[in-house]
Amino acid sequence: MRYTLPPVQTSKRVKIYVFPSTGVSLVRPENGHPRQDSMKEPVLLQRLRTDHGHIGRVLTVLENQIRKLDDDGEGPDFDLLANLVDYIGEYPDAIHHPLEDQLFDHLVNKGLMPPEHKLVSVNLGQHVEIIAATKKLARDIATVLNGAVISAIRLKEHVDEYIDTQRGHMWVEEQQLFPLAEHMFSDEDWAELEHLCEATRDPLFDKTVARYEDLYRYIVEVG
Ligand SMILES: [Fe+2]
Repeated sequence: MRYTLPPVQTSKRVKIYVFPSTGVSLVRPENGHPRQDSMKEPVLLQRLRTDHGHIGRVLTVLENQIRKLDDDGEGPDFDLLANLVDYIGEYPDAIHHPLEDQLFDHLVNKGLMPPEHKLVSVNLGQHVEIIAATKKLARDIATVLNGAVISAIRLKEHVDEYIDTQRGHMWVEEQQLFPLAEHMFSDEDWAELEHLCEATRDPLFDKTVARYEDLYRYIVEVG
């Protein structure tokens, strides 16, 4: 079933996420444990990077669906979007970010320089903001599904900002924080953290939860 929102009247400029200015130097030859090309990436980082790839695919679906607000066509599939946002709440927000929180907590205990410490703090704060933004998005979509009218412009703005923030956040983690952790952690550190990924599975991409089957199929075939 499709639901129609009032058309977007103007194309508002998308707010661009501003990456934190960190001044972080990732080259710290002293006391570091740089990974050689021949060394395997730590299991926890493999898991987090795989998650990021999956989150990226989900965000692309969200982006493409919300663009349909601009079309004269049938508009976004809000049932699909509700399922998609449910997934973000259930896995990226509830499992993935807390995994990263534990990684970054461990990193803070390694004695970071002030700019590095600030970068970690900003990132941890963004996890809280992203989780709140997901809940707001879920409420907006539920409002549409319940037949109430909400501003298409506001919804589009919120989704655009949400997507930009998520992508910027993952970029900082992949380009700055994960390499910093690789540099600072010893094999013993990684072994200590490895158990974190054992108990949890991704309900969508590991195909463990039936109510995400349609969304999974959509992502594979269309997204
Ligand atoms: Fe994160």
